[in-house]
Amino acid sequence: MFPSRPEQALVPLPRKLSVRGGHFRLDAGTRLRVTPGAGPAAALLRTLLAPATGLALPAAEDGAFVLALDPALTGLGEEGYGLTVSRQGVLLRAGRPAGLLRGVQTVRQLLPYEALSAEPVRGVAWELPAVEITDLPRHPWRGSLLDVARHFQPVSYLRRYVDLLALHKMNVLHLHLTDDQGWRMPVPAWPRLTEVGGWRAESMIGPEGDRFDGVPHGGSYTTAELRQLVAYAAERGVTVLPEINVPGHVRAALAAYPELGNDPARRLGVWTRWGVCENVLGTGDHVLEFVRAVLDEVLDVFPSPHVHIGGDECPTTEWERSPAARARAARKGLTGPRALHSWFLARTAGHVTRAGRRPVVWAEDGLALPPEVTVMSWRDPAHAAVAARRGHPVVQVDHRSTYLDYARGTGPEEPPAQVGPPVDLRAVYGVDLAPPDAGPGAAARVLGAQAQVWTEFVRTPAHIEYLAFPRLCALAERVWDGTSGWPDFAARLTGHTARLDALGIPHATPPTQHRTPATTPR
Ligand code: ACM
Repeated sequence: MFPSRPEQALVPLPRKLSVRGGHFRLDAGTRLRVTPGAGPAAALLRTLLAPATGLALPAAEDGAFVLALDPALTGLGEEGYGLTVSRQGVLLRAGRPAGLLRGVQTVRQLLPYEALSAEPVRGVAWELPAVEITDLPRHPWRGSLLDVARHFQPVSYLRRYVDLLALHKMNVLHLHLTDDQGWRMPVPAWPRLTEVGGWRAESMIGPEGDRFDGVPHGGSYTTAELRQLVAYAAERGVTVLPEINVPGHVRAALAAYPELGNDPARRLGVWTRWGVCENVLGTGDHVLEFVRAVLDEVLDVFPSPHVHIGGDECPTTEWERSPAARARAARKGLTGPRALHSWFLARTAGHVTRAGRRPVVWAEDGLALPPEVTVMSWRDPAHAAVAARRGHPVVQVDHRSTYLDYARGTGPEEPPAQVGPPVDLRAVYGVDLAPPDAGPGAAARVLGAQAQVWTEFVRTPAHIEYLAFPRLCALAERVWDGTSGWPDFAARLTGHTARLDALGIPHATPPTQHRTPATTPR
């Protein structure tokens, strides 16, 4: 049967789900009873259901649809909820506001899939099947990185991406805001970061070689847009995790401010190639001051408990050649210029920690990091195990199961993708959430997992969504609870596909490789 009944196609699958007979119908007479603290969840429910259903869902003391925040429900944790739908009414309750927001997404999925349409839908009975659900996630970190540095996306698209994450009960949007090829976040004291660093002259065609497209590309957000995005995401229970990548992946910043590099006399453009750039930040006090100033702006705009400071792919050749960097390493008693990588990150992490936030760093061989740093293990599963053993919180981002810029499969219809092993749906579903050799207690340090949408070869929202869906559904499933097994998930996904279609997600249509003109923001 296709599409299957909504209650048989929930993604992610709730912890406990019992289906009863009958249904409750939402119509123009439906009223919400909203207890203190449940207002934001009621507002979200209305916002999400209005476009397709036209239902106003006004509040009333005797409303049959109850949204209740009950702090005594401690067993449901930060994000759990209970949902009872009977013929008489609906009771959605949670101990914490985020739990109600997750429950709202379940209500949305329990309705006919047409409820997800952006356009008004007529002739559909908005019935909720009678169910009893008790649900909570196994992992607190369920996210997706979106790389807006390689290819800029307007903030309107980021809002849509947040909505797609929230539908799947994902709770982190990791915004990769800076890289060699573009700097997207304004820092008032350093205006050239976006004025100069926000634009590149052209982009390399393909992963290697010397062919370029001749098309300028760029864009940046305003501070107001970023603040509004943070608020929009918070209304949906999604945290925006900002990433400012240092001390490598900084060529856009060096193009804006050459004095931040290892050779202040050298003029560099924003990088037009892909790959790992040799140019990295210098190690002088003025560079550390710059990083602190940027982070202060980040801390002000993004209330996220975590702040990502990058740390990946930092060639040390410039430091090895630089008398100033070598002298810095010697003064600090380091074994040599290579050790400046850990030193730089420890300084940067310390600034985040002193501000009461938690720094996040990409794992690399040989990095020694303060224990309070959260490690994203992308390159090698051994990094997750080592980090967990050393006491670091860990987020699983293994490229073989979570890099959605890798091809979805080997078929001829797949658009050109980042070089790497194909990551099919099954590979994403197989994401390893507990490194087997991490040792006793260490598995508990794995906070969760996230999918990465790097965008060297991805210019358009359609291409982002083709890469993200349905693979993000598999990640969402596994990181929420994910114990029901592949056949059960695959069957539910078949029904869930109707929702992706209703949302206009081009999950089955490979994007055309047309050139887009230079982006002007917004
Ligand atoms: C990475 O893919 N360089 C984190």
